[in-house]
Amino acid sequence: MYRYDQYDHLIVRERIAQYRDQVRRRLADELTEEEFLPLRLQNGLYMQRHAYMLRIAVPYGLLSTAQMRMFAHIARKYDRGYGHFTTRQNIQFNWIELEQTPDILTDLASVEMHAIQTSGNCIRNTTTDEYAGVAADEIIDPRPYAELIRQWSTFHPEFIALPRKFKIAINGAVEDRAAIAVHDIGLTAVRNDAGEVGFKFMVGGGLGRTPIIGSVINDFVPWQHLLTYTEAIMRVYNQFGRRDNKYKARIKILVKAVGAEEFARLVEAEFADLKDGPETLTREEVERVAQWFNPKPYLTLPSIDPRAEHAGDKAFANWLQRNVKPHKVPGYASVVLSLKKTGVPPGDATAEQMDFVADLADKYSFGELRVTHEQNLVLADVEQSKLFEVWQQAKARGLATPNIGLLTDMISCPGGDYCSLANAKSIPIAAAIAERFDNLDFQHDIGDIELNISGCINACGHHHVGHIGVLGVDKDGAEWYQVSIGGAQGNESAIGKIIGPSFSAPQMPEVVGRLLEVYVKNRVEGERFVDVAQRLGVAPFKEHVYATPIPAGAKVGEDEYA
Ligand code: HEM
Ligand code: SF4
Repeated sequence: MYRYDQYDHLIVRERIAQYRDQVRRRLADELTEEEFLPLRLQNGLYMQRHAYMLRIAVPYGLLSTAQMRMFAHIARKYDRGYGHFTTRQNIQFNWIELEQTPDILTDLASVEMHAIQTSGNCIRNTTTDEYAGVAADEIIDPRPYAELIRQWSTFHPEFIALPRKFKIAINGAVEDRAAIAVHDIGLTAVRNDAGEVGFKFMVGGGLGRTPIIGSVINDFVPWQHLLTYTEAIMRVYNQFGRRDNKYKARIKILVKAVGAEEFARLVEAEFADLKDGPETLTREEVERVAQWFNPKPYLTLPSIDPRAEHAGDKAFANWLQRNVKPHKVPGYASVVLSLKKTGVPPGDATAEQMDFVADLADKYSFGELRVTHEQNLVLADVEQSKLFEVWQQAKARGLATPNIGLLTDMISCPGGDYCSLANAKSIPIAAAIAERFDNLDFQHDIGDIELNISGCINACGHHHVGHIGVLGVDKDGAEWYQVSIGGAQGNESAIGKIIGPSFSAPQMPEVVGRLLEVYVKNRVEGERFVDVAQRLGVAPFKEHVYATPIPAGAKVGEDEYA
């Protein structure tokens, strides 16, 4: 993985020293809260419902075990013993004391991490596929390019005061596992007929109050122009993006207003000035960065079928089927450690679990971990012959629920339990649905399905692109939930359609149950829930869900962690 150079170290150290003094001045009342606010946000520190929240970027989702152990240390020493992995490959700590934040940042810097540009109107963490570098369907390893974007965008003087925040995702494989269609810029690596590498540029995707699938503005930008072409887009956005209305400030609104074609023309005009300029990438520069992601010291191993050796162990077979993914090197596999055990908020990991996964990665996966945008962790390089061992150990720590891609592998934002912007709680809804459908046989029968929950229109839980999306809404001060179906992420990205009037929290598990009934009744061989929802449209689902009243049932909404 990438290692900081002397400049990275210096920049981060200087930033912490400045921030330490800013915190001191705030505590001494030399700075008002108003003056301090932009300073703390520049260091990833938010004020939430109960306490400060610190957001730390995990660049392109890749972590060393030392970094994971540092998260465990922060959780234990400065928080309440756990952290929350998010859909943008960040980690958030929810119970932070202001006085301690400079020390936390100092601790983080010791393992080459920071919280810079995790907030504010700047370019945020560039995310990618959790199987980057190991996926069997990979065209190129996107991580060196993601790292180049990180270096280019960090403290870029022209792009620290954009109209609004800016999110870039990059995918190097045939299958999009980085949700590129719902990012401000979504990049896909492609090869042209001559075998040269380039990038397809999608612009203007996003969720939030105006969900939009991005538009392709250029099918092939040669890799040398990755930064210059990105810069051309940023310049157009910086110049023409709206600054008068926060809700209309994202690049998606600009692309929609002028049209993708006109937007592309504006970018080309800007690019004409930048093309072949000093930011043009050279082979040497890409190779210099790529060396940090060099292939691991893989052994020459035969491909084996671990299932055969443990035939009859149904639990292991289930786990292999759901949580183990193919690897491009024979004899290896990638393992998803599920952070979705029923009863635990999606994406939460305790300090003990973080230390434990670091031990696992040291022992079985070259000392590296990945964070997925679906809020799970990945051991990317496990020998197939060690899968049984890894499973047994992960199971003992509650990290081997065989539910990856199934109903209980849901995405959920922290919602009203933490977030001051929430209209409704998310975690108790996730918990109630998980509890109702805890039966693994049932879930395996239902098969691939994505259920995503957000506590408000900001869509941090990606509800628009869930096969089933749940959105918390406020009605006269009460918490209600609006349901959509047919959304999808990946190559077939789509925004879900709302089925009708919203529901109370206690009704939600039954609503999901009824949606599933329609699916089971109508599916034909091999069809997933989303296929049926897209084939039949909303009508039959709507009809069945609203056919008879759903009792309000027991009250949910207790806050486990408050
Ligand atoms: C608890 C503190 C959080 C706050 C204050 C917050 C705030 C926001 C706001 C205001 C937006 C809308 C931005 C816009 O449309 O311009 C947004 C969007 C988003 N946030 Fe959060 N969020 C928080 C937590 C999270 C968490 C925990 C996740 C992941 C689980 C997350 C991931 C996202 C994503 C993916 C979007 C998507 C919308 C888009 O940019 O297209 N955020 N957030
Ligand atoms: S979707 Fe709303 S409630 Fe959920 S984390 Fe984002 S801003 Fe908060």
